[in-house]
Amino acid sequence: MSARHSDAHAALWPAYGLTVLDGDRTPLDLPGLFGRDAPTVLEIGFGMGDATAAMAGADPGRDYLGVEVHTPGIGNLLALVGERGLTNVRVAHGDAMELVHRLAAGSLDAVHVFFPDPWPKARHHKRRLIQPANVALLRERLRPGGVLHCATDWPGYAEVMREALDGDPGLAVADGTHPDRPVTKFERRGASAGRPIVDLIYRKMY
Ligand SMILES: C[S@@+](CC[C@H](N)C(=O)[O-])C[C@H]1O[C@@H](n2cnc3c(N)ncnc32)[C@H](O)[C@@H]1O
Repeated sequence: MSARHSDAHAALWPAYGLTVLDGDRTPLDLPGLFGRDAPTVLEIGFGMGDATAAMAGADPGRDYLGVEVHTPGIGNLLALVGERGLTNVRVAHGDAMELVHRLAAGSLDAVHVFFPDPWPKARHHKRRLIQPANVALLRERLRPGGVLHCATDWPGYAEVMREALDGDPGLAVADGTHPDRPVTKFERRGASAGRPIVDLIYRKMY
């Protein structure tokens, strides 16, 4: 981490950070974590956190729980939280699906999965985050009417994502919903390499 990141980590981790341990199934109390009972957005794999901080800053009525494995990203999001005085962001360090296991059914207003690692080699496809079992678990954690928003710049992964989302019996395409999100770092990278950007937005039906 840079000095900016490690200073932010030292100052803000105790109040804003959460360590996710593999195998820990202790239920996570979201109102306790945020100090209020507000609709909560889970952002999986926030990278450097620029989009998370921008969305949370523009949406003070909802709480944003970001989860990331990459340490500099944790430091950067904490630095943005401190610099912008954001009180509706919490930063979880560890594996996203381990964290999801600790959330109550129906506890999330939205899940954002922006540009997850594409794992382009066929032998690595099983590592992809968006696959039917994970989609079912994420849907279960959403409230009825809640939104699962995925985005990718990898055409092959987009197709697989669409199949997994269409194949989930509790989700339906959120017609008329626009991909209202900031451009992310990995999106810029994909777009400048000429890859098409695909947003897939689904709603939990019941
Ligand atoms: C391609 S980057 C996209 C980052 C950011 N969303 C963006 O669009 O710029 C994917 C991110 O997901 C994170 N990641 C990968 N697997 C993860 C997991 N199991 N749990 C949490 N984060 C994960 C990686 O560390 C990486 O930062």
